[in-house]
Amino acid sequence: EKGTYPHFMLKEIDEQPFVIRNIVQKYRNDDGSVRLDDSIRQAMSAADRVYIIAAGTSYHAGLVGKQLIEKIAQKPVEVHIASEFLYNMPLLSENPLFIFISQSGETADLRGVLVEVKEQGYPTLTITNVPGSTLSREADFTLHTYAGPEIAVASTKAYTAQMAVLTLLAVNTASARGIELDFDPIQELGIVASAMETLCDQKEELEQIARDYLATTPNCFFIGRAADYFVCLEGSLKLKEISYIQAEGFAGGELKHGTIALIEDGTPVIAIATQSHVNLSIRGNVKEVAARGANTCIISMEGLEQEGDSLVLPKVHEYLTSLTTVIPLQLISYYAALHRDCDVDKPRNLAKSVTVE
Ligand code: F6R
Repeated sequence: EKGTYPHFMLKEIDEQPFVIRNIVQKYRNDDGSVRLDDSIRQAMSAADRVYIIAAGTSYHAGLVGKQLIEKIAQKPVEVHIASEFLYNMPLLSENPLFIFISQSGETADLRGVLVEVKEQGYPTLTITNVPGSTLSREADFTLHTYAGPEIAVASTKAYTAQMAVLTLLAVNTASARGIELDFDPIQELGIVASAMETLCDQKEELEQIARDYLATTPNCFFIGRAADYFVCLEGSLKLKEISYIQAEGFAGGELKHGTIALIEDGTPVIAIATQSHVNLSIRGNVKEVAARGANTCIISMEGLEQEGDSLVLPKVHEYLTSLTTVIPLQLISYYAALHRDCDVDKPRNLAKSVTVE
């Protein structure tokens, strides 16, 4: 039930700090280490390469998951769009492990891949919010995202929950491989949850950004580099699906290879700047579009902020920025849709779970 909330989406956005804390509780040992089934730990250890298969928002979580597993556990990962995988199958490694990320656990495009790779005898793991779901029952292993029921069609808390579980999977795999971490993941996820709370309390500022940038525009660009790029893809999907504004997420450096032709006077460009190693380059990209008339909005992070930034996020660990950066993008999309009189929880043409190919 949505209680006092006008929409499920807003309620589910607000639930994210609780969801992250809940996940930590569920997967934490008393000594502060990460607890996962031994079978999953072994499957991760035995794999020479992980193949993540997903669609939509869950695919965007997969892109972040690749970075987390490669950086934290030093294991190579590929991420594939489920509906493309079977028809354009990459050359597989000798001992692959397939990870299916799906909020609903019912997405037909993923199931097609699951059936095929099982037939070929490869191990499979489903990360899902619905443990009794088809993909969960049919895979060898399941990791539950514990986000609680997600009712709004646009996925919010399931996405951050997926990234939190992927973090814990990466940490657990690193420990199985004897890799020492220079940070405490449980503590860092706690810091993420608090940062999420701070951001959820900034609704007025975010509603104002939606008003200033998105009230009447036909289109919008999100630009970012490195991890911020993946969040831009998710931010643009959120905005498209609920506000019907044509939105594109772009790698900052790629814009000038063609797409910058679309920038006109007043075109909104929302830039994310939370990555220290590309902070100057993304700001350079903002100048490029501003010089062509774009209405630019910079969302940065403490320690990297510059004068004129529209929003400065609380500092979180550099591996975990996607979990917090997405919150303002979810809220901006929500308010843009609201101001444009769209049906926030049930956007046109969309279903909560896509059970046809
Ligand atoms: C976007 C959205 C969709 C789903 C996609 C995959 O807000 O909800 O893009 O993420 O259809 O669904 P699941 O995760 O259930 O497999």
